[in-house]
This record gives sequence, structure tokens and C-alpha cells, in this order.
Amino acid sequence: MPVPGAQALDWWRHAAIYQIYPRSFADADGNGVGDLAGVLARLPYLAELGIDAIWFNPWYASPQADAGYDVADYRQIDPLFGTLAEAEELIRQAHALGIRVVVDVVPNHTSDQNPWFRAALAAGPGSPERERFWFRPGRGADGELPPTNWQGFFGGPAWSRTTDPDGTPGEWYLHLFAPEQPDFNWDHPEVRDEFERVLRFWFDRGADGFRVDSAALLIKDPALPVDDPEERAYTDREEVHQVYRSWRRVADSYSGGRVLIGEVWLPDAERLARYLRPGELHTIFNFPYLECAWDAKALRAVIDDTLRLHRAVHAPATWVLSNHDVDRVVTRYGREDTSFAIYARHHGRPVDLALGARRARAAALLTQALPGSVYLYQGEELGLWEVEEIPDELRQDPMWERKGRNPADPGRDGCRVPLPWSGAAAPFGFSPADATAEPWLPQPAQWHAHTVAAQQDDPDSMLALYRSALHARRDLAELRGGELSWLEAPAGVLAFRRGESFACVVNLSDRAVELPVPGTVLLASGPLGAAGEVPPDTALWLQV
Ligand code: GLC
Repeated sequence: MPVPGAQALDWWRHAAIYQIYPRSFADADGNGVGDLAGVLARLPYLAELGIDAIWFNPWYASPQADAGYDVADYRQIDPLFGTLAEAEELIRQAHALGIRVVVDVVPNHTSDQNPWFRAALAAGPGSPERERFWFRPGRGADGELPPTNWQGFFGGPAWSRTTDPDGTPGEWYLHLFAPEQPDFNWDHPEVRDEFERVLRFWFDRGADGFRVDSAALLIKDPALPVDDPEERAYTDREEVHQVYRSWRRVADSYSGGRVLIGEVWLPDAERLARYLRPGELHTIFNFPYLECAWDAKALRAVIDDTLRLHRAVHAPATWVLSNHDVDRVVTRYGREDTSFAIYARHHGRPVDLALGARRARAAALLTQALPGSVYLYQGEELGLWEVEEIPDELRQDPMWERKGRNPADPGRDGCRVPLPWSGAAAPFGFSPADATAEPWLPQPAQWHAHTVAAQQDDPDSMLALYRSALHARRDLAELRGGELSWLEAPAGVLAFRRGESFACVVNLSDRAVELPVPGTVLLASGPLGAAGEVPPDTALWLQV
């Protein structure tokens, strides 16, 4: 099932990839949760937007304890979202529109409802079924203490105790995330074989690639040191590269340019680049760029570091401003502290949404002008902000409970609110008129001005900016491949050239500046001054 009109095998080197969070994109059956039929109906919107590929967050059969990142069956679609036949149809129709499809694979952990885990619980201590996971007796006189002190990423201990069939407390099992997400033992050959079969299952159905969830966490130190403040017993261990080398062989055995994209949260850029060595993952998300403050010096340092490290391993850089795990960019850039840390949010602090939106527009042009591929998270193109005022009882992210219901760090629901498509009031076309339920998270009333319908024909809208930039990015030869060269610019201004005739200028300072290079404006993120000067928080694409 090749993608017509997109034969290049290295499409992923410069693609614009749109992230769909299925439960919040579009709801066709009216139950308040998005579904595949909803996506199918909106494919023309995505084609018109000018993207090259879609990455779907998990659509697999799941009890939804972590919004689908607890996968019970890697080969079935959750009935909440649709059927396997619909997923196949979606891949076919996307391909017919020239759009590739990347699916999520969640190898570090599974669901406590996965048949292997249920069998492990039933089979009891010492059984071969338990060896596919990390079961251990507890410490203390009665095994009442967890085997190690490790904390889970969502808060609380990374171990939960089981109950034996006779009702007495039994062994503990490891889960780096929620208790409903037991970690696999990747030293076990059956685990490795099973995932290669899962990759083939979706490649056989036309998937163009995988986004690899929690990619650095798979391998654990079998000694399980009790204290591990540095997380080195389970993060970024050498053997994980062996796994990705074998996955790469699977991907390369298929035609059409299939890719592996890693979700690797590591602060250290040198370690990040190791995942991109020849024969391993094709690309990884650039979280240092996402986390960086809106600051010219800091951004330039991240950009330079990124390009240097990727060059060394011959891999393309990626650029990402938001996803389903982080506060939306309009909100981040509207705060006094514009940097971001995934496990330490600052909800409730003042946000200037107008300022954030102006910066997010400039950031969109900066991001899309950089060499490599770009990701955009659904709703970014509509300028949506983080919804901080979700009522406590409606919050669904397991982080909310596990981090002790902390209003300043409430989890990730605020970036997962269903998209507004049309109309003056909720559900804003997310669900059909005869829907039987409200959207699974409430949409702010102010989103009436941010629907697709409201922005569609407004040349000054965020949607129009994204659409113009994505199309220009495709059409301009200078924006494919190649590197960037920095141009002389005043303090607080980023200016660089791509090729001979394209330049991007971003003013992150607090005063208007003259254009650092003469040229014709191709695109601007906001109005220029009377004499053509670039106001603060404004970016330009220029033909020079
Ligand atoms: C990744 C996902 C996140 C999920 C976690 C556990 O970080 O992006 O949404 O909760 O892994 O699977």
C-alpha cells in the first residue's frame, strides 16, 4: 500500500507530522469521546492543512487507565475508538490523500488486563508466566515493604503488591507508571519476539512507522538496587540499543520507507544522539527544544546543540512545541517563566494568553523553518491554550490522584480537551448534534472564536498561519535538507538563512528591530511596523 505521490523513502527527514489524540479529535458516534470514524471524516481537513503524516496516540484495546497507554491487546482497536477494519480503512484513505500513518507502540509496559499479566497473577510465584514481568518478594519481616525504593513517574511507589489466590498478600510487581501498567521484562526472549510480531502486524497493514513510547526505559538492571536516585537502574541502559537495532532490521525489511521514532526524555543531548546511531531509531523527539524558554540565547544554544549532535550520527533533527503530555504552548509562552518541565507544572500562575499566542505564532514560523522534521499536536494549529480550570471530579489523568491532587501540578488533562470544530457553543462540532453525551472533558466557552470554522477563512488566524507555513515549507526547495547558517542580528533576535534565498528572522527581544537582512516578506507571524521593522515576539520568513 504505497503512498501515491510520496515515493521518497526518506520522507521522515523533513516531514510535518500531525499528532492525533484519538479521544479528543472528533467524535462521530456521539458518546463524547473521539473515534476513528471521526478522524476519517476529517481527513480532508488534514490534507488541506498540508501535513505529510499522522501519528496516532494509542488506539488499542485498553481499560484506559492511562488513556490507552495501558494496552491490553496490541492487535485490536479499542471499541471506544472503532474496529480494526476502520483502522485499515483509515490507513488506506490517508495514503490515498498522500498522508502517511505512524502508530504508537508501548513496549515498556502493558495493561494489568493483558492476558500475559493475568496469567502471571494466576500462575503464582516462581512460575514461568511471572518471568515476563518484574515480580519480586517484598522486603521487611512479612514482605510488607516494596522490593526497592523506586518512585513511579506519576508519583507514588513503582511497585504494587499482589494478592495470592487464598487472599494473603503476595509478591510485588514493578510499574514505572500507574499500577495498571506492569513493566515487561525485556530480558525475556518471548517479550522481544512478541513485539517484533506486533511491529510486523501493523507494518503488514500499511503503517508507515511507529512512535516508540518511553523508549529509554525498557531495560532494567536485574540486580534491582534498592536505592536508585539517579534512575540509572532503569533509564537509558545500554542493552536497549540492541532492541532498537533488531527493530530497525524489521522496519528495513519492509518497502516504502518505514520509520521508528523514539520518545526519549533525557536531559543529556549526547545520550539522546546514541539512539540515532546508524541502524537504530530514525528520529527522536526534540524535548530540549520543547522545554526551552522563549529566549533567543537559550533557543539558539538548543538549536546548535541539536544540529551538531544529529549531524554526527547522520540523523535528521526534529522540532516539537507540544504534545499530549505537556502544557499547551500558548499558555507556556504566556507565563512569566516560559520554560517547561514535564513532572513539575505551574498551573494557577498568571498567564497572558494574548502574549502567549503572539509568541506561539512566532514559534510556529521558527520551528517550521529549522532543518529536519516537525511535529504539531492537534489544536496547536488553532492556537488552543491549556485548560487549567477543569473541575476536579472530571480529571482523568492518573497523575492527578497519584501526585496527591495538586492543583499546581494536576496532570495532563488540560492539553487533552476535545477540539472545537464549529458552532457557538460546546461541543463545538466535536460531537454530532444528536450526541448522547457531553465531550469527555469540558471545552472553554471562549473556544467559539477558535473553532476551525471561525478560523478557516480568516487570513490572520492561527490556522491560516499554520496552513500557509506548512504549504510553503513543502514548496520551498531551500527548506528541504541542508543546514542553517546564522546571520548577524541584534541581541534577542534569531536570524538564519536556509540555502541561498530563504531567511527566517525572529524577534524575541522587547523592542522593535530593523530587518537584519533585506528581502521580501513571504510570511509574517504578525503585523510589521510602519517602516517595516519587526515588533517584539514576531517572526518572518523572507526571500532574500
Ligand atoms: C509516555 C506517553 C504518556 C504515557 C507514558 C506511559 O510518556 O507519552 O502519555 O502516560 O508514556 O505510557
